[in-house]
Amino acid sequence: MHKKKLGFIAFGKRGAILARDCAKELGDFFEPAAAADPDTAGAKERMKKIGLSLPVYSTPEEMIENSDHLDALFISTPEDCHLESFRAIAKTGLPLLMEKPLEGDLERFAILTREMREYDAPVMIGHCMRHAPILRRARQFIDEGWLGKITSMRFVQNCCYGEQMFRGWRRRSDKVTSMYVEKSTHDFDIMHMMNGDAFATGVFAFSRQAKFGGDKPNDLKCKDCPEQLSCSESILNHNETVYGRELDLTGQDYCVYAQEADVGDDEMCMIEFANGVQGSYAQTFFTPLNYTGRIYTVVGTEGVMDINMGHGQGLLTVNQRSAAKSDQLRMTFDYLGHGHYLGDHHMLRNFYEMICGREEPFTTLEAAVAAEALGMAAVKSVKSKQFETVQIP
Ligand SMILES: NC(=O)c1ccc[n+]([C@@H]2O[C@H](COP(=O)([O-])OP(=O)(O)OC[C@H]3O[C@@H](n4cnc5c(N)ncnc54)[C@H](O)[C@@H]3O)[C@@H](O)[C@H]2O)c1
Repeated sequence: MHKKKLGFIAFGKRGAILARDCAKELGDFFEPAAAADPDTAGAKERMKKIGLSLPVYSTPEEMIENSDHLDALFISTPEDCHLESFRAIAKTGLPLLMEKPLEGDLERFAILTREMREYDAPVMIGHCMRHAPILRRARQFIDEGWLGKITSMRFVQNCCYGEQMFRGWRRRSDKVTSMYVEKSTHDFDIMHMMNGDAFATGVFAFSRQAKFGGDKPNDLKCKDCPEQLSCSESILNHNETVYGRELDLTGQDYCVYAQEADVGDDEMCMIEFANGVQGSYAQTFFTPLNYTGRIYTVVGTEGVMDINMGHGQGLLTVNQRSAAKSDQLRMTFDYLGHGHYLGDHHMLRNFYEMICGREEPFTTLEAAVAAEALGMAAVKSVKSKQFETVQIP
């Protein structure tokens, strides 16, 4: 088997996780070959932790110029520079895995979408959850008719580790616009998947900052804070007692009560889809450790399916209207220790087949655009307090 040589544009937390998966779980398929990251020291440090030692360049252009041969590229810079990252590689014509969300701001999202549509090579977007076996099985139940005709969906994300989002760049609307874009695009994409890719057409949304943000200095870190022991959100408390393990907190060790943290942490919206299906979505970034995970409910004329994504193990239940009271189809899915419910692994397998020209990408540019356009419309609705139509660029 010919191993595909990968060039990583950004070697932050996401770049390192996928490089590790490519080298370890999928070492027969991939060979991480080079990286480009302005923080070359940080990138090298991360490589060391996962047992890799790749040449690191400070720009994508340098990486491409100095690498003997690359088969494909992976962009995982923060989303406010995805446009520049894409432009830096646009002439290579190499197969590309681009992280979601596409861009951090509405105007740049539209520009990037148009430019990526013109790209002359296969493109996959990192909506890894679509590849998760639990969600693919759920979609299969719908296709097999277990629920009848789908009428509505109720999706909830309870995020116990949400404070991590408020320790770094994700807390700033000038970087990510909103959690409706940075985080919910995953869930919006799965709503679309369950709805047979009949995309959202309109949304009415709320957003509030209920817990994080405040008046602390932007450069305050827990380790320098006089309240580091008494504050329940202090990393000293969270890292050890809540997660019980050491996390990679590079760039994510700032105080969650900083002045610059201006995105919502408790949000809710109602969604209308092109086929008349209606949906609701809620996400909260400060739920307790024992009250966390995504819970997706899909309602049909003949049954209701619950997908409890859990942590490490998921439970899918199908309840049919025609069944006896206690009848229930239950399936459990084990993904302990795997990223995104095993979605990362299957996404990378699909990426390999896409590079080889044998498979179409399961996570397409147009589906990613639809999920992000919904997120952007939700942001508009929060501001206007009106129902807003989803504008596809
Ligand atoms: N698909 C998923 O489930 C998933 C999960 C995590 C992150 N992400 C996405 O991946 C992206 C990165 O997230 P992260 O958690 O790795 O962030 P991070 O802050 O850990 O890493 C970002 C890296 O990008 C580097 N960088 C900054 N500007 C750059 C540039 N112009 N060129 C090259 N490198 C540059 C930084 O030095 C850093 O090493 C974001 O868009 C995020 O939303 C997606």
